[in-house]
Amino acid sequence: MKNTKNPKPINSIKCVFPIKSVNEGLARMIISAFISQLDPTVSELSDMKTVISEAVTNSIVHAYKGTTDKSKAFVYISGEYYSDGRVVIKIKDKGIGIDDVKQARQPLFTTDRESERSGMGFTIMESFTDKLRVYSKKDRGTTIVLEKRIGL
Ligand SMILES: Nc1ncnc2c1ncn2[C@@H]1O[C@H](COP(=O)(O)OP(=O)(O)O)[C@@H](O)[C@H]1O
Ligand SMILES: [Mg+2]
Repeated sequence: MKNTKNPKPINSIKCVFPIKSVNEGLARMIISAFISQLDPTVSELSDMKTVISEAVTNSIVHAYKGTTDKSKAFVYISGEYYSDGRVVIKIKDKGIGIDDVKQARQPLFTTDRESERSGMGFTIMESFTDKLRVYSKKDRGTTIVLEKRIGL
């Protein structure tokens, strides 16, 4: 039977990189170039860059805190887009996970008061996407799945 609920993406991308702050910009550029194929508006492109920055920065600064085994300290990004202009980006790490996702998603919540973290990362990600899902398991890691319709 034809699966209409899970259509095949028109295009997809996957990349993995170590948790270095220089790679935040790299991730942003890769995803921008990928979604440029959908002819986004300037504001759609800028929203997407902001969201990718927030998600990747979280994996870089929070996920591997106190982890001694840096052999698993990578960020995994995948992207797909569909014929209806829907873009789905997944940003995953294998870090410490988030204890309470509901709490973490609250505006201004941060576990990192010493550095100048605003606690607004999830709020920004939510407001610039159509859908934001967060899957996290203690000591296993975190996956952010974001969806946004582009170029319509
Ligand atoms: N990938 C992640 N791994 C572990 N903890 C995370 C991750 N992403 C977010 N968090 C937790 O959720 C909190 C809220 O994230 P966010 O809204 O981006 O605020 P901020 O990064 O400014 O602290 C963080 O302070 C951190 O405790
Ligand atoms: Mg953040």
